[in-house]
Amino acid sequence: MIKTSFNLLVLFNLVFIVSLVDASSWSKEDILKINTFTLKQLDPVVDPSNKYLSNKNAISLGENLFFDTRLSSNQKISCATCHIKGNAFTDNHNLAVGLQKGFRNTPTLLNAAHHNWFFADGSKDSLWAQVLSSIENPAEQNFTRVELYNLFMRDNIYKTLYESSFKQTLSKSITPVNLPNKAGPNADLQGLIAWKKLTPNQRDKINQFFTNIGKSIASYVSTLESKEARFDKFSYELAKTQHSSLLNESEINGYKLFINPKSGCSNCHSGPLFTNKEFHNIGTGILAHDNGRSEVIEAVIHDEFNCLSKYSDAKKEECVELNYINRNKHGLSGAFKTPSLRNLSKTAPYMHDGRFNNLQEVLKYYSSIDENRALEVDLPPISLTVKEQQDIVNFLLTL
Ligand code: HEC
Ligand code: HEC
Repeated sequence: MIKTSFNLLVLFNLVFIVSLVDASSWSKEDILKINTFTLKQLDPVVDPSNKYLSNKNAISLGENLFFDTRLSSNQKISCATCHIKGNAFTDNHNLAVGLQKGFRNTPTLLNAAHHNWFFADGSKDSLWAQVLSSIENPAEQNFTRVELYNLFMRDNIYKTLYESSFKQTLSKSITPVNLPNKAGPNADLQGLIAWKKLTPNQRDKINQFFTNIGKSIASYVSTLESKEARFDKFSYELAKTQHSSLLNESEINGYKLFINPKSGCSNCHSGPLFTNKEFHNIGTGILAHDNGRSEVIEAVIHDEFNCLSKYSDAKKEECVELNYINRNKHGLSGAFKTPSLRNLSKTAPYMHDGRFNNLQEVLKYYSSIDENRALEVDLPPISLTVKEQQDIVNFLLTL
C-alpha cells in the first residue's frame, strides 16, 4: 500500500517535471504575448463617418462597382485591375499601372478597413474618401463624379440598387443635358470649367451621390478580411495545450527574434495585424525623395470629404484621429504608415514604392541599420546574421 502510493508520487513528480520542461520554452507570459498577435484580438471594423457600413444593399452595390471597368475614362480599368482578388488584392507590380504609371506600390485590401489612415502617407482619413480619390485619380481610373452620375442614370440595375440603399431618388434634373459628361473638381481644365458651371446646389447633390458611392465601395472593402493563418492556429494550440508543432524551429526562432528588442520589429509591427497604425521614418522616404506623411497633413485637414466634412456621418467628437492629428511636419518627414505583415507571401514587392522584390531584401535592409543610420531614422541599430534574417523571413511567411 505504502509502496504503491510512493510509486504514484514518483510518477506524479515525473509528469510534473516533464510538463515543466515543456512549458519552460513557452512560459505563461510568452503565451499571453503571442496571443496578442492573433486574429482573435482583432476588433470589428468601425467607421462612424459611414453609416452604410453594414447595409447589405450598399455592400452589394459596392462589390459590383469594384469590378466594373466602366468606372474609368478608357472603360478598361476597375479597382480589381490593381487589387486582384487571388493576389490578396494586390497586383505584384513594383509600381501600380492604371491609366498611367503610378508612384506607389499597390497595397493589399485584406484588413485595410482596420487602419485609421489610408494610403501609405495617410492622405485620407476614411476608406470612402480614399475610394473616391482612386476613381478620380488621373493615374488610376481618371473618371469624374458627373460621368459616374450619368452612368447611374443609364444603368437601371445600379439606379435601383442605389435608390434602395440610400433611400434617395436620382433625378435627371441634376445634370443638365448641355453639360459635358466629363466634369469634376479633379478633372482636366475642361472638366473643371464644366464643373464650375453647375450651380452650388447641383454640385452639392452630385457630391452627395458621389460620397454615397464611396461609402458603398468602402462597405464592400470592409468585408475583406484575412483568414486564420498557420501562425494563429499555432498560437491557439499553444494556449490550449502549451504545445504545438505547427511552426518549425526556424519559424519559432524567427518569431522570437521578431519580438526581441534587439530587432525592435514588434515596436511598430504589433497587434493582430502586426501594425501600430502609426507613421514612421524607416529611411525609405528620404532615399526616394518622397517625404510621406509630412507632405499631406495640411491636405487631409482641409479635405472636402474628411471626417469633419458635411458629407461625413460622424459627429465632430467621433473624428478622433482628425481632431488629434499630429501636425509635427518635421517629425514626420519621410514617414510612412506601418503596413500590416499578414499575407506577405502574396503581396510582394514591398514598401510604399515596391523597392524590394522579396522579404530577404527587406531583412537585409533592416540589418543595414548601423549606429550612424539609426540617428537619421526611427529605427535602432539592427544587426542580424544571415541565418537570423532567414528565420524572421520564415516566420513572416506563416502570417
Ligand atoms: C491603378 C491601380 C489602382 C486602381 C485602379 C485602384 N487602386 Fe487602390 N491603390 C493603388 C495604389 C498604388 C495604392 C497605394 C497608394 C498610396 O499609398 O499612395 C492604393 C491604395 C488603396 C487603398 C488604401 C489601403 C491602405 O492600406 O491604405 C484602398 C482601400 C484602395 N486602394 C482601394 C481601391 C478601390 C476601392 C479602388 C477602385 C475604386 C482602387 N483602389 C483602385 C492602386 C490602385
Ligand atoms: C519604427 C517602426 C518600424 C520598425 C521598428 C520596423 N518596421 Fe517594418 N515597416 C515600418 C514602416 C513604416 C514600413 C513601411 C515603409 C514604406 O512603405 O516605405 C515597414 C515595412 C515593412 C515591411 C514591408 C511590408 C510591405 O507590405 O511592404 C516588412 C516585411 C517589415 N516592415 C518587416 C519588419 C521587420 C522584420 C522588422 C524588424 C527587423 C521591422 N519591420 C521593424 C515600420 C517599422
